Amino acid sequence: MPFRTTIEPFRIKSVEALKFTTRDERKARLAEAGFNVFQLHADDVLIDLLTDSGTGAMSSSQWAAMIQGDESYAGSRSFYRFRDVVADLTGFAHIIPTHQGRAAERILFGCMVQKGQAVPNNAHFDTTRANVEFLGAEAVDFVHPSARALSKETPWKGDVDLPALEAWLAARKPGSVPLGMLTITNNRTGGQPVSMQNLRAVSALYRRYGIPFFLDAARFAENAWWIHRMDPEWQNRSLADVARAMFGLADGCMISAKKDGLVNIGGILCCNDDKLAERVRNLLILTEGFPTYGGLAGRDLAALAQGLREVLDHDYLHYREASAHYLAAKLDAVGVPIVKPFALHAVYVDARAMLPHLSPQQLPGQALACALYEQGGVRSVEIGTLMFGRTDPTTGRQTTAEHDLVRLCLPRRVYTQSHIDWVVEAFAELMKRRDEIAGLEVVEEAPFLRAFTAKLRPARKPAARPLAAAT
Ligand code: F0G
Repeated sequence: MPFRTTIEPFRIKSVEALKFTTRDERKARLAEAGFNVFQLHADDVLIDLLTDSGTGAMSSSQWAAMIQGDESYAGSRSFYRFRDVVADLTGFAHIIPTHQGRAAERILFGCMVQKGQAVPNNAHFDTTRANVEFLGAEAVDFVHPSARALSKETPWKGDVDLPALEAWLAARKPGSVPLGMLTITNNRTGGQPVSMQNLRAVSALYRRYGIPFFLDAARFAENAWWIHRMDPEWQNRSLADVARAMFGLADGCMISAKKDGLVNIGGILCCNDDKLAERVRNLLILTEGFPTYGGLAGRDLAALAQGLREVLDHDYLHYREASAHYLAAKLDAVGVPIVKPFALHAVYVDARAMLPHLSPQQLPGQALACALYEQGGVRSVEIGTLMFGRTDPTTGRQTTAEHDLVRLCLPRRVYTQSHIDWVVEAFAELMKRRDEIAGLEVVEEAPFLRAFTAKLRPARKPAARPLAAAT
């Protein structure tokens, strides 16, 4: 009889103490932070589900690899080891390290994208979108219609809306689409996976138009897991085979290694085109560093090479699914409206559905993230109107996002089941008094990526007012 219990496929050798705070202290910290959880001191957070990016725990093998990291400025042994692991994983010809994902985005787009052009994707993550827009180009999302029904358990909600993408491409002027993208998994739509079928169709479509196809593969291992789990074609194939097949459909990729690289810092840019690689390396030297370190220390590359070997382990990904399922099922059981199916890197709460007394202008996602912190010291992140909307400078009203979600990220190999029980208990309490959770309004915001630095306050009635000077 197989065991019903899935356990962490590791034991804990080094621990980090958590600090408990009182509700009054948390209320004060929130007000000081301008009701923006990015502005909290991490020491005042008990359980940090803000992001799964760079927040994972490294294995003893990774720490051991760090000690052996080669810090040579050029041609470091750690680089070559990293390069070989990535080449084996992805099959790409050129493998270029960067300090994190957005550096790869900036450099790749800087080499390929021009003003007035447009880059399609299933959905751009916020930094990806910002890096496209910063160049005066347009970032266009083709979210699959099934992703709109948040609570509906449909597989492969991360897929591109293929007919819409096809129609859009057919109507574009030749040369106006410098590259096409696909984000695996689709962080913007609740971390939903992309099917191999969709990957193949998108690859064929871009190829037909002669458009280079790049993956945003921050969570490639989690996408590979779902394909292995749910697609009969891949059930008897290794996870490495699935990953290679996904990468094999593209002309290149960008990877924020802070997720499935199982490291705290790092990024990867890969491509097959020799000329493009040369331009990328030249820009890399200008802003990141020599191409054999790309803004990372040799020890970072050593830890990353080892992390990439560990992440496609069946037991690890099985445990990862079991942990996400545990949180999702418990939240569901206490009536919290969550996005279905659950993702591996996070469970997303539908804040609009949980707080129907708040209008999207009153930032229900941010209000819920703040209430959760106040309730249990749990930090989450809003993915909604604060992140993707903006304040209309003339009316003071918010342009709203399609959804207002709160993302509860699961850092890799960090929290145990009792930490998750604590989170569920906090939610159960919030559910009882959800009518009392008040809305918020923006007081100050930056022109790009405002969610990181915006200052807010409890919404006054009426909520809309002209905006104070932006920073
Ligand atoms: N692409 C995706 C799909 C991402 O989720 C992220 C980062 C990036 C690119 C940028 O990578 O942070 O290394 O520069 N996502 C983090 C998150 C920040 O919290 O989801 P980066």
